[in-house]
Amino acid sequence: MRCGVVLLVAVLSLGTAAAESLSETANDQIQENFDINQFLGTWFALATGCNCSWFSQYKEVMTINKVVLSTSEESNTFIGTFQYDRNGTCIHHVGHYAMKDTAGHFVFNSTGAYAEAADIRVIKINYQEYAFLLINTSKGVDHSKSVTLYGRTRHLTKETTEEFKEFALRQGIPEDMILFLPEKGACVPWDPIPESSVKDRKRRALDKMRKGLSLETS
Ligand SMILES: *[C@@H]1O[C@H](CO)[C@@H](O)[C@H](O)[C@H]1NC(C)=O
Ligand SMILES: *[C@@H]1O[C@H](CO)[C@@H](O)[C@H](O)[C@H]1NC(C)=O
Ligand SMILES: *[C@@H]1O[C@H](CO)[C@@H](O)[C@H](O)[C@H]1NC(C)=O
Ligand SMILES: *[C@@H]1O[C@H](CO)[C@@H](O)[C@H](O)[C@H]1NC(C)=O
Repeated sequence: MRCGVVLLVAVLSLGTAAAESLSETANDQIQENFDINQFLGTWFALATGCNCSWFSQYKEVMTINKVVLSTSEESNTFIGTFQYDRNGTCIHHVGHYAMKDTAGHFVFNSTGAYAEAADIRVIKINYQEYAFLLINTSKGVDHSKSVTLYGRTRHLTKETTEEFKEFALRQGIPEDMILFLPEKGACVPWDPIPESSVKDRKRRALDKMRKGLSLETS
């Protein structure tokens, strides 16, 4: 269970790198003019990397996550709804994040038994296609950094995936700890998640018309 929680944060935030190194390296800055509204809606977590010790044990079980992002205005909270396979079960999980003063900077602070904190930054984003996230997680004295690639669809261009890989390497994530996740497991085909799913279906319907035939499963 503990690992499930850690895993989720890693996959969801894809973040990496300590705050100090972030401010030192221009490449690690939060996306300029970040627009939270355009960040909302449906994403797929397609790749992740982490320097954490538990990562190699879990490499085999990680799969693509579906993520729906929204905000709650009353409480200034950022909400992520995740669907992911864990050992043959489709897990639905909701995470609440606090928004920091800088747009594109979020923190996760679990107060429960798995006391864990995560600092999540959106480093690069093209709202219609992809987002690169950098996360540092701390659990007691353990610190780790991770990176995650979000895609609006499950197929990004080769340029984008290569760029993400370079980004991860630049964060000091070892190459064998950068993982492009398979799409499989109990959540596939993906359930529609309310909210942007209608818009999504319209877009997919349009895509299908354009392509004539689509391999998309949801
Ligand atoms: C992220 O890293 C910075 C610098 O090491 C540290 O001060 C901060 O507490 C970390 N945040 C989390 C949530 O781990
Ligand atoms: C996964 O499921 C199998 C079969 O149900 C079970 O034996 C195993 O303990 C489970 N593993 C985890 C990590 O939950
Ligand atoms: C997490 O919660 C603790 C206790 O409420 C607080 O002291 C700490 O500043 C919080 N950390 C973040 C990153 O919000
Ligand atoms: C992962 O990176 C963080 C931040 O740079 C560092 O504090 C931590 O020691 C690293 N962990 C491992 C296992 O290398």
